[in-house]
Amino acid sequence: MRRMKFAGVGAFVPERVVTNHDLEKMMDTSDEWIQQRTGIVERRWVEPGTDNSDMGAKASLAACQEAGCDIKDIDLIIYATLSPEFLFPGTGCVMAQKLGLTRTPALDIRNQCSGFLYGLSVANGMIVSGMYKRILLVGSELHSRGMDMTTRGRDVTVIFGDGAGAAVLEATEEDTGLIDIAIYADGRYTDELVCKLPSSRIEGFITAEQVNNGEHFCHMAGSKVFKHAIVKMPEALQDVCKRNNLTPRDLDVMIAHQANLRINEIVGRALEIEDKCFNNIQKYGNTTAASIPLAMREALDQGFLKPGHLLGLAAFGSGFTWGAALVRM
Ligand code: ACO
Repeated sequence: MRRMKFAGVGAFVPERVVTNHDLEKMMDTSDEWIQQRTGIVERRWVEPGTDNSDMGAKASLAACQEAGCDIKDIDLIIYATLSPEFLFPGTGCVMAQKLGLTRTPALDIRNQCSGFLYGLSVANGMIVSGMYKRILLVGSELHSRGMDMTTRGRDVTVIFGDGAGAAVLEATEEDTGLIDIAIYADGRYTDELVCKLPSSRIEGFITAEQVNNGEHFCHMAGSKVFKHAIVKMPEALQDVCKRNNLTPRDLDVMIAHQANLRINEIVGRALEIEDKCFNNIQKYGNTTAASIPLAMREALDQGFLKPGHLLGLAAFGSGFTWGAALVRM
């Protein structure tokens, strides 16, 4: 049976480290508040001159190197981001141009913190159907240029960081790779975690007044998002385990989207797999679509995640969207 395996995983984070103490100088917040509520100690921000697609390209080349393929051998790029360089064209096209690709199709997806899982689901359909043999899935986010750096935006700004991750996904006949994946969306909660501007609902897409009022920044009903995340991620993982005659305890490693360490600790406890959870939000904050491949790369580098392991993935974010997957590494 044709399946989809992870042939390479790459990651890139900017060099500039921004600590909670650095944020204390910009807004009314504290290292203690941020660590207690989120577990985050520091995050990375890009320097001028680095764009979203630059980070995506670096992560992609690293993933190709591990997979032993050339970027020109990629059949399709799927680019997950909520911080695109342009409203259109997609950032996947921009990255393809930087990588010297002139024919490779590039598909952007807009599923925020669930973007990597949504991308895996799309890639799996295309690979298992025989449409493509090798897909590059990128999650890349440049949040730091689009955040409110005043006290007004502190609930959101302290959480997010910049970074990218990528995976080369290949067709295989071996009994390895993606076992199952489930993705969900509930648009009733659109307003709870949203960036409303620029918008085609508005004449000119955005007004100067809206910018002056800070209406173009992300709005997040944090505690509502929190309460849904701690229910939906365990539920999705349990469901996907159950339909494969597995339990969460059968996992060797669990990587959940890195939005808040407290969320992931609660998820780990609910599934009784705290010892199997890998988190690196402490160092990078929430890198949205990049967080899962970034954590996978670090877990592999640290030997926490190994070839042959059964890996569980889960994500929750804006939409609301969420999902879970099982992977034999
Ligand atoms: N520093 C200091 N105080 C703060 C800060 C800050 N950075 N941010 C908020 N506060 C204050 C609030 O003003 C509030 O003060 P008040 O009680 O006087 O009104 C108090 O702290 C508590 O605020 P809450 O929002 O209730 O704090 P909470 O414990 O819920 O933590 C947080 C906020 C960290 C945002 C949390 O709700 C969370 O992580 N939510 C989920 C985020 C998430 O999962 N997002 C999904 C992915 S993102 C995506 O998809 C794009």
